[in-house]
Amino acid sequence: KSIVEKIEKIQILACGTSRHAAMVGAYLLEQFAGVPTNVYFASEFRYSPPPVSPNTLTIGVSQSGETADTLAALRMEKERRDSMNDSNFSFHHLGITNRLDSSLARELDNVIDIGSGIEIGVAATKTFLGQMLSFYGLTILFASHKQKRTTQEILDLSNDLRLVPNQILDLIKKHDALSKEIAHMFVETKDVIFLGRGINYPIALEGALKLKEISYIHAQGYPAGELKHGPIALLDQNVPVISIAVPGLVYEKVLSNSQEAKARDARLIGVALDGPESEMFDQLFSIPEVSEWISPLLTVVPLQLFSYHIAAHKGLDVDQPRNLAKSVTVE
Ligand code: F6R
Repeated sequence: KSIVEKIEKIQILACGTSRHAAMVGAYLLEQFAGVPTNVYFASEFRYSPPPVSPNTLTIGVSQSGETADTLAALRMEKERRDSMNDSNFSFHHLGITNRLDSSLARELDNVIDIGSGIEIGVAATKTFLGQMLSFYGLTILFASHKQKRTTQEILDLSNDLRLVPNQILDLIKKHDALSKEIAHMFVETKDVIFLGRGINYPIALEGALKLKEISYIHAQGYPAGELKHGPIALLDQNVPVISIAVPGLVYEKVLSNSQEAKARDARLIGVALDGPESEMFDQLFSIPEVSEWISPLLTVVPLQLFSYHIAAHKGLDVDQPRNLAKSVTVE
């Protein structure tokens, strides 16, 4: 049996934006390739790791390859597995990084270089896309070995991925102007809620993180179905809601969750398909109709542009936000 065939479970350790990419990865690995996968905050994993499971692949994701919590969590996992001296519990591992010259790349035997080029801005953007792409590659690898998907399904996913670069270029052209246009509406905004479900739930989290980091606006991402379990109490005309609603498994659900927000007078911004359903949105970042599997690669782009333009409009330093470092080398 190859290692890929032997792996029964995957655990992913990461922080911040890298963790959001890992969550998209976990969705793909479980739902497309059929491999049970968990994502951990590296900082939490260090002090409350799950019981050691057999035939498990540990993946560390770090753009810089220098994040102290991620490195320490990986070292700890290696140590506890090595000390068991049992081949069923070996430290099968993989690093995903943008820096082949980093500690992470030096310490691990198997590394995917996302090759996004040096990222200058503190807020990770292009490397988030690069990290997600690595997970698409892994998903195709696992799906091919686990026989969960037909050859045609795997081919369709690869072919869809080939179209993504041009689709992203189009989105940037189209949405740069719109984000700039609506940025001024957010100068006084104190709170924003991002909604997404399924594979786009991590994109709601990432949209909220980018807004906090560079625009200094408090934002929270929720799986849209959770809205009614508390956050809906926050909504009024001063709390805009940004809803990621793309065709697929949970489309109708997200649309009806968005409608609930609108009924509370929230300004509703959609990252959605341009069609009759999108009439409920006050502003629309339209997304082309693509397979739901690849949609996160597109839905995140307007959200990145949107945070950028709000920050620029407020005269903030978008590359070097206050209180943040490009890599967090302390615990
Ligand atoms: C977000 C951001 C941080 C990092 C996090 C992990 O824009 O930059 O949340 O994603 O500090 O950093 P890396 O990926 O270098 O381990």
